[in-house]
Amino acid sequence: MQTPAINVQNLSKNYGPVQAVDDVSFQVPHGELVGFLGPNGAGKSTCMRILTTWLPASSGYAWLNGYDVMYQSMEVRKRIGYLPESVPVYGEMRVREYLAYRAKLKGVERRGRTARIDNCMAKCRVMEVKNRLLSTLSKGYRQRVGLADTLLADPPILILDEPTSGLDPVQIGETLATIKELGGQHTILFSTHVLPEVEKVYDRVIIIDKGRIKYDETKKAIDAQEASYLLEVRGPADAVTAFLRDQPDVASVEAKSIESDLTGFELRSRDRKDHREALASRIAAKGWGLRRVEVKRPSLEAIFNEVVRRRQDAATPAPAPVTPTEPAPTEPDKTPAA
Ligand SMILES: Nc1ncnc2c1ncn2[C@@H]1O[C@H](COP(=O)(O)OP(=O)(O)OP(=O)(O)O)[C@@H](O)[C@H]1O
Ligand SMILES: [Mg+2]
Repeated sequence: MQTPAINVQNLSKNYGPVQAVDDVSFQVPHGELVGFLGPNGAGKSTCMRILTTWLPASSGYAWLNGYDVMYQSMEVRKRIGYLPESVPVYGEMRVREYLAYRAKLKGVERRGRTARIDNCMAKCRVMEVKNRLLSTLSKGYRQRVGLADTLLADPPILILDEPTSGLDPVQIGETLATIKELGGQHTILFSTHVLPEVEKVYDRVIIIDKGRIKYDETKKAIDAQEASYLLEVRGPADAVTAFLRDQPDVASVEAKSIESDLTGFELRSRDRKDHREALASRIAAKGWGLRRVEVKRPSLEAIFNEVVRRRQDAATPAPAPVTPTEPAPTEPDKTPAA
């Protein structure tokens, strides 16, 4: 079996009494684009800092492309591009100058370096600010410069902690399109809170909550889940309901709304086939009007709410706030080759 791009085994991290990451295990094969989701304080950034060698784990293991994050950190750093939660600011540097400095640090060969920097700036749409001082950039542009930085050495693995945070809706769309495009050539683990947007790009989603993995599924498996149908039928509500209940492929029928003779239904099917056309022609044959027929798949937002709500329903008292037991990790101030 091929070594996974990311291999995490029983990883835990505690800050004093706070169990930030609790026995987390997962593997990411090469080329997969993974959305790493979770509410505030779930442990996403802590996990990412461990994977990128900026924070030691309390216990457990992690390998990136087969290299141990603890004992082979320099090898790991050569193979990852990391966008930390807060992009470090070298305010007195200009964008292009900063990226040139970073490229040199990362050992990008002198020959072709200029072209490489231009290529990364173009990909992340920062060309128009290349001569601006970093301190004068908006948060969105700073985030994009951070993303360009992660690509400089063309690392096989990208770990992006909230790459769309602070961006306006148009920029979010553009950045996700860039991430999707990069997904073809890189393994990507990215965290975010913007669920409807993730929906457009991800191959797999991992939801972490209170340091534990609560959900881990591929898009393919999510898309193959049983669908429900949303219908709006013009006709006598009782007769339509009885008729729909009688259909062989229909497991359940629920009337959602009634507006004079127009009724909205949600139907569950017994299988995963698409029954829309069959239902439409049977309803038409009865002489009723069909105003809407739509497949409803579970959205990431619905899955997320379900997973996180389950946690809240089983509410345990929130842990008391603690003061850091160790200094906040030096964010990639990005020493060589991060
Ligand atoms: N240096 C630290 N000292 C003490 N506790 C910490 C420290 N860093 C993080 N924590 C705690 O660890 C837990 C996980 O934090 P983490 O930053 O990994 O969450 P997150 O999922 O990235 O959240 P967010 O979505 O808000 O970025 C939280 O309870 C947080 O308060
Ligand atoms: Mg975070």
